[in-house]
Amino acid sequence: MPQWMSKKLQPYGASIFATLGRVARERKCVNLGQGFPDFDGPEAVKEAARQAIAAGHNQYAPLPGVPPLSSALAEKYREEAGLDFDPQTEITVLNGSTEAMYATLTALLEPGDEVIVFEPIYDTYLPVIQMNGAKVVAVPLEAPAFAFDPDRLTKAFSAKTRAIIINTPHNPTGRVFSEAEMTQIQQLCIEHDVIAITDEVYEHLVFDGHRHIHMAALPGMRERTITISSTAKTFSLTGWKIGYTLAPPEATEAIRRMHQFIAFAVATPLQHGIAAALQQRNTLIPQLAEEMNSKRDFLCNALADIGFNVSVPQGTFFALADFSPFSSEKDLDYALTLLKSEVAVATIPISVFYQHQNEAPTNYLRFCFAKTDATLQAGVAQLRRLKN
Ligand SMILES: Cc1ncc(COP(=O)(O)O)c(C=O)c1O
Repeated sequence: MPQWMSKKLQPYGASIFATLGRVARERKCVNLGQGFPDFDGPEAVKEAARQAIAAGHNQYAPLPGVPPLSSALAEKYREEAGLDFDPQTEITVLNGSTEAMYATLTALLEPGDEVIVFEPIYDTYLPVIQMNGAKVVAVPLEAPAFAFDPDRLTKAFSAKTRAIIINTPHNPTGRVFSEAEMTQIQQLCIEHDVIAITDEVYEHLVFDGHRHIHMAALPGMRERTITISSTAKTFSLTGWKIGYTLAPPEATEAIRRMHQFIAFAVATPLQHGIAAALQQRNTLIPQLAEEMNSKRDFLCNALADIGFNVSVPQGTFFALADFSPFSSEKDLDYALTLLKSEVAVATIPISVFYQHQNEAPTNYLRFCFAKTDATLQAGVAQLRRLKN
């Protein structure tokens, strides 16, 4: 029999998400684990995509993206962040921020480069960095505040550092990096001539007066930042996979060259749908963010009332809850216990977001509150069994 899987891929086993998902389905658990909404995005946006299909926008899109979407993105960042990106040479539409990150890292990295990441780390960064022959240098966000130690960050920069990935608002901790944190990263990037790659997919899900800072908008960073974002979470349309990069022309050229060999183009009618969504962003985005804020309050209050120590998130649609009042099991085991017991609620253990499991805190579960009120209420009712 042939050996199918290449050696570079073999170290990355099927994730725990698959196992947890299977048990959750088998036991018909309330799923507060999966990181996406169990409801649909706005009707007007779906209608715009349907109209694009009816109007014949069904062949390959231009490689950089359809012009109405590129222009809408340029307008959005001009209005929100005072950033001017040229749609012709600096904006590229890709299949979600996942393809954007893959194309960016693969286009930029040389073997032996170092890439700084904050840990817990979103699951796609690490394999992509390593498969490109580069090294991951992890800086911990330390529980319970999930902030980084400024000295640890300074020491992480070396002559080999090529890039730093900044995911804010941060999955899974819900942290929104502060001005002081962003400024320190900015200064270190400039001092060491390092590229900042951002993952801003939760940029519009920010609560309690916290403010999302665009790294590219800080002085001296426009020319050394690749901004990656996606419309998946903003408009609750994760299945559309419309992401993008905003980057200086030479970086954009490299990303586009890579994109040409991965997918070449992104679903044409869906790009038109998102262009329409962005036209209505000033009404749609605050509305969706407000709804998510109420869901956050409902879930966090309920979890605290049940007895969890909740890290109330500043952004994203995730909340971490410390379950040590209920169990001294490790998070992976406790997530399975919750699934298999009468509680029957699916969550995600935090340690799956760590490169080395032995460095991970083991007392947190991630709950996703991007769920219908009915799902959230059912989940909370089940979790209340822990109180008995
Ligand atoms: C931090 C982070 N980045 C990227 C993604 C994936 O985004 P997309 O669907 O646009 O590829 C997710 C999805 O959960 C995420 O949490």
